[in-house]
Amino acid sequence: MILVTGGAGFIGGNFVLDWLSNSVAEPILTLDKLTYAGNLATLEPLKNDPRHVFVHGDIGDQILVKRLLAEHRPRAIINFAAESHVDRSIHGPSDFVQTNIVGTFNLLECAREYWNGLDGHDKQQFRFHHVSTDEVYGSLSASDPAFTEVKAYEPNSPYSASKAASDHLVRAWFHTYGFPVVTTNCSNNYGPYHFPEKLIPLVILNALNSKALPIYGDGQQVRDWLYVGDHCSAIREVLAKGRLGETYNIGGWNEKANLDVVNTICAMLDDLKPRADGKPYADQITFVKDRPGHDRRYAIDASKVERELGWKPNETFETGIRKTVQWYLDNPQWVEGVVSGSYREWLQKQYS
Ligand code: NAD
Ligand code: DAU
Repeated sequence: MILVTGGAGFIGGNFVLDWLSNSVAEPILTLDKLTYAGNLATLEPLKNDPRHVFVHGDIGDQILVKRLLAEHRPRAIINFAAESHVDRSIHGPSDFVQTNIVGTFNLLECAREYWNGLDGHDKQQFRFHHVSTDEVYGSLSASDPAFTEVKAYEPNSPYSASKAASDHLVRAWFHTYGFPVVTTNCSNNYGPYHFPEKLIPLVILNALNSKALPIYGDGQQVRDWLYVGDHCSAIREVLAKGRLGETYNIGGWNEKANLDVVNTICAMLDDLKPRADGKPYADQITFVKDRPGHDRRYAIDASKVERELGWKPNETFETGIRKTVQWYLDNPQWVEGVVSGSYREWLQKQYS
């Protein structure tokens, strides 16, 4: 079996569902703290599936993690658990340091002790897969080449600094202890079950609820978008065939300016669910104060994972964003479940 941390979040949840959609897949133990971003409704389709066990807990809880490893004896750990929203890290970095750095440290130490106790084949097969981000590389100008795996780390936000620190710990555990790790650094994901604090789901839901579509600064910041299902397939490839101690950049070759992304979503909604007054959703676009330290451009060079492991994304931005918009139109109950009181307080704090 495999242990997935943060499996009730956006990418972890998609990963668990994708993995178990294969009828011969190994069972999964999900460990998740269920912060505001964790949502058991995402894992609802698995509630009667004996191959899935959910444990509510913290990756920083040494006693719990040691017990779970001893009882379930996973052959791999995939670490998705993190505080993941840049704007929240600006308002309050403490949870980011605690989970992303201290929590990853605890997970590494517990896993290393467990791995040391394995024998022969089990020890040789064990993997610790750390899921990280392109934000650790910093910001690009319009003419810079895309990030490769040898680009120096230059994190600019409390979030990316905490992820960079966790990547360094993972790297050091390989070099110092020979602990079998792989790290993936992925670009911006989008797709089903995405928490509506992030740009794409926020814009879809605000548009449908006749609210402003907030664009930070001039809206010309560039992100490199990858459909979440493609990220999940990349992780499966790297877990199965990635070289130990290596990092792999994962991306969709889909660089887009934020304003273009928002206009694309508006045009799609005009088509799929026109406004009652017949006006375009783009009329709701509103320029707001910029994010402090806002990175201008991210771009991933994903040629290493393609060359070494033969991985390529299946979706283009156009096919992926259509699926995503349709998913939000078809799943109002999931949305209702996450738009809780605490989420409304966040919107008030961030956008008032
Ligand atoms: P998310 O915020 O949607 O989900 C994070 C999950 O981790 C939640 O279910 C939360 O409850 C859980 N969690 C938080 N702290 C925990 C703790 N201490 N112990 C156990 N569980 C905890 O995040 P996401 O967007 O799904 O991102 C998952 C991972 O992928 C993160 O490590 C993130 O840095 C990385 N990543 C995200 C993106 C993206 O575009 N979203 C891109 C590249 C990499
Ligand atoms: O690059 C990978 C990263 O992508 C992940 O590591 C992070 O976990 C994930 O949150 C994401 O970070 P971003 O900051 O790029 O994503 P976000 O959706 O918050 O913002 C995308 C862009 O849109 C960014 O340039 C900021 C802008 N934005 C965002 C929001 C929420 C707006 O213009 N308005 C908004 O209201």
